[in-house]
Amino acid sequence: MSTQNNTLSSNINLAHQDIISVNQFDTDLLDYLFNRAEEMRHIVETVGGNDWLSHRVLTCLFYEPSTRTSSSFIAAMNRLGGRVIPITQGVQFSSVSKGESLADTIRTLEQYSDVVVLRHDKVGAAQRAADYADIPIINAGDGAGEHPTQALLDLFTIREELGTLDGLRIAMVGDLRYGRTVHSLTKLLLHYDVSLRFVSPELLRLPLTVMNQVIDAGIDVRETHDVADVIDNADVLYMTRIQRERFSDLAQYEEVKGHHELTPELMTQAKEKMTVMHPFPRVGEIHYGIDHDPRAAYFRQIKNGMYIRMALLASVLGK
Ligand code: CP
Repeated sequence: MSTQNNTLSSNINLAHQDIISVNQFDTDLLDYLFNRAEEMRHIVETVGGNDWLSHRVLTCLFYEPSTRTSSSFIAAMNRLGGRVIPITQGVQFSSVSKGESLADTIRTLEQYSDVVVLRHDKVGAAQRAADYADIPIINAGDGAGEHPTQALLDLFTIREELGTLDGLRIAMVGDLRYGRTVHSLTKLLLHYDVSLRFVSPELLRLPLTVMNQVIDAGIDVRETHDVADVIDNADVLYMTRIQRERFSDLAQYEEVKGHHELTPELMTQAKEKMTVMHPFPRVGEIHYGIDHDPRAAYFRQIKNGMYIRMALLASVLGK
């Protein structure tokens, strides 16, 4: 199935659709999805789950490691009464290790499943899988490309935490070059009246392709190297990890690792009503001493991921 160049919300119907890129979403569809995620939260909090997806099967196919994305999709499917084929503990235990192509792997798994969630190390792999498959493919991260379901849960979290998506100043910090969550979230934020601040070492600045979209959208945007330049005015501080695995030259990684760390001292400069987020895993970007600060939203953000993925699975599978 292929949804390239297809904006999904013309009739707010996600049934049988691939989820490959945030470019597929507009504000009507985002509102629809967020309302469904609220519904899922209510179901989980009141009765734990339901049987909307009973007899449906999800395959989670992960060529890269994951804790949150894989587990939350599995939890989402279980909460809705469905079953999961989990290829999440390393494709080295599947026939990928024998040289099987992505095309054959996808065409095989679609014989058993109603939907495939795919994480891959190559940009564009999710779209290629969607081109091969007749069932929906959901992109769970394709290399340094996109991570659309993470961006959806990030946006949902901002709305939940601050009650709006408009009039906010949002600062993104860390690996903006390879950080697919940053690329996807930035593109979604262009639908709203926001100011953006990008904080990174020179080597890890936001790619020009994404920055040009920000500029073309007329967004108020600035770049800096130091989180202290932006923290006092930020409504959202979106921290990210500097990703060792994305560097071909490890000497460059050594130069920039540990570039930024959010400390309790820095937090004293932040607004009282501000939200700290992180897609996780974290490896030192946020001091553990901040975890009990009410502004630290990252564990609530993780839980929101399950509600958003419940909403996506139910919608894609026609429920
Ligand atoms: N945020 C995120 O994608 O986490 P995982 O790599 O653990 O799935």
